[in-house]
Amino acid sequence: MNMKSGLMAAALAAALSFALPASAVTVNGPHAALPCTTCHTGTQMKAPAKDKCFECHGSYEQIAERTAKLTPNPHSSHRGEANCTACHSMHAKSRFECNDCHNFSIKMKGE
Ligand code: HEC
Ligand code: HEC
Ligand code: HEC
Ligand code: HEC
Repeated sequence: MNMKSGLMAAALAAALSFALPASAVTVNGPHAALPCTTCHTGTQMKAPAKDKCFECHGSYEQIAERTAKLTPNPHSSHRGEANCTACHSMHAKSRFECNDCHNFSIKMKGE
């Protein structure tokens, strides 16, 4: 493939992914009711910055209050204010990143 047709294929792939019918993409949990544009603008089909999550979920402190019963609290640790999508996936399976190094018994919903 020469460079020009490579670029065209890339542009076409981008256009196609943007044109994907919403029904072809599964959105997990309560976010299923949200329009795609809540988290994706233009042709940007990747994880939004955590500020987007804060718009509805408040701050890391507020989220940590909701999981205060978990030991350790996944939202308050030496990892600081990690990107939400390090653990929570909006479309695929979530994964508990802490267990890359630890062996805590905590599991993500749907893991
Ligand atoms: C609540 C926020 C949110 C909503 C709403 C959302 N997405 Fe996503 N999207 C993400 C995140 C975060 C990722 C990064 C991968 C992941 O978390 O699964 C992503 C990734 C993607 C990707 C890249 C492929 C992939 O799975 O990594 C596509 C395509 C996509 N979203 C399409 C959509 C469509 C179509 C909708 C509406 C039906 C939608 N998204 C709604 C947050 C969202
Ligand atoms: C437009 C508002 C909105 C945005 C933006 C949003 N959420 Fe949510 N989210 C909700 C609502 C509403 C619920 C259901 C009520 C609740 O648990 O707070 C929810 C629930 C959740 C839950 C609990 C899921 C469950 O199955 O109980 C997680 C985890 C979550 N959101 C993570 C995220 C992450 C990560 C992002 C950023 C990628 C994000 N949210 C962006 C509105 C939003
Ligand atoms: C290190 C992994 C990790 C990171 C990073 C993380 N979370 Fe969580 N989150 C969890 C775990 C574990 C739970 C509890 C199990 C579950 O609900 O899947 C949880 C639960 C939640 C819940 C549901 C709380 C409830 O009431 O049950 C919300 C909302 C949430 N997270 C939002 C966020 C947002 C927003 C961010 C980013 C600001 C974030 N999380 C970052 C691991 C993480
Ligand atoms: C890159 C590897 C790595 C990741 C990822 C990681 N940790 Fe750690 N953690 C360590 C190391 C190294 C120590 C210090 C040595 C020890 O005490 O185990 C530590 C210590 C701890 C401790 C105190 C000691 C203990 O085991 O009770 C807690 C609690 C903890 N981490 C929680 C978390 C949580 C929660 C997450 C996810 C948000 C996380 N860690 C992610 C490497 C990691």
